[in-house]
Amino acid sequence: MTQSGRIHSRIAGTGSYLPEKVLTNADLEKIVETSDEWIQSRTGIKERHIAAKGQTSSDLGYEAAIRALEAAGVAAADLDMILVGTTTPDLVFPSTACLIQILLGAEGCAAMDVNAACSGFLFALSVADKFIRTGDAKTILVIGTETLTRIVDWTERTTCVLFGDGAGAVVLKADAETGILSTHLHADGSKKDLLTCPVGVSAGFDNSKPNAGLGIQMKGSDVFKYAVKALDGVVDETLRANGLDKHDLDWLIPHQANLRIIEATAKRLEMSMDQVVVTVDKHGNTSSASVPLALDAAVRSGKVKRGQLLLLEAFGGGFTWGSALLRY
Ligand code: COA
Repeated sequence: MTQSGRIHSRIAGTGSYLPEKVLTNADLEKIVETSDEWIQSRTGIKERHIAAKGQTSSDLGYEAAIRALEAAGVAAADLDMILVGTTTPDLVFPSTACLIQILLGAEGCAAMDVNAACSGFLFALSVADKFIRTGDAKTILVIGTETLTRIVDWTERTTCVLFGDGAGAVVLKADAETGILSTHLHADGSKKDLLTCPVGVSAGFDNSKPNAGLGIQMKGSDVFKYAVKALDGVVDETLRANGLDKHDLDWLIPHQANLRIIEATAKRLEMSMDQVVVTVDKHGNTSSASVPLALDAAVRSGKVKRGQLLLLEAFGGGFTWGSALLRY
């Protein structure tokens, strides 16, 4: 606790994992009518990773988790809670968090999934932050993990070029000094049809189509416009809530969906692209894994240093969107 008696949650360690197989834009040219030039100029994506047959979201999440635990110097047995942001769980239940808990050998602590599509990691991080601030937990593992390419329609060029698989994780610990300053979460379910995977358990699967009709559907340009506006709003809200100016930020760690959306947010914040962590070129859109993957890449490359001010943001299906401001 600080002298004022407040507990903060601080990122003690980060980790990530990408499956071995890489699918390049040139590979996609053989699957659908597209081109490397089109994909790069519209999205910034050059390649993405694809989970191996049988490799699930919990497998990817576990690999990211052990790296984050090692970086934090925390044993799995010391975890009070495991939270997993995912929209591609292994099973309906048990949750992906419970499956990762078994792999880690951390039985007994609380474990649950948070589904907020691409904003899942930030929503989970916000929940974890609240548990630590109230004193109900001291050490929480927060993971974003996805095998999104399993719900991609590989005949649909407007979407299949965008997504990839991967996982990222952080260990949050109670800290006396510093850490997450605030989180801000939003959703607008009335836009549900603009970005959706419209089949599932209770609504039923479409057995007339291959793979039970699973397939992401998106009205790309509508999503683009809404995302830019929503992200502008939430970054302003975050700075205002903390009495900070945009020039105080050291790094923007955005959701990696599209380089043009990232550039629009950076412009709003008057940040040079040198202060923005970009991994979308190598990862594609990995949904809730994208922010922790980018964070881990920035930490391990030595870009992000202790004491710096980081703004994390994400936008996804639902719609959902959110941010976290933290002193790393
Ligand atoms: N390769 C080649 N051409 C393609 C293509 C592909 N992979 N996908 C679409 N096209 C074509 C379209 O058919 C269309 O052709 P037409 O003009 O003959 O009809 C043309 O390219 C333009 O399509 P449009 O959808 O208007 O392109 P766009 O500039 O809006 O870019 C996205 C498409 C998807 C890249 C862009 O809308 C986007 O990034 N949206 C946000 C997506 C997002 O971030 N979603 C996740 C949020 S978590």
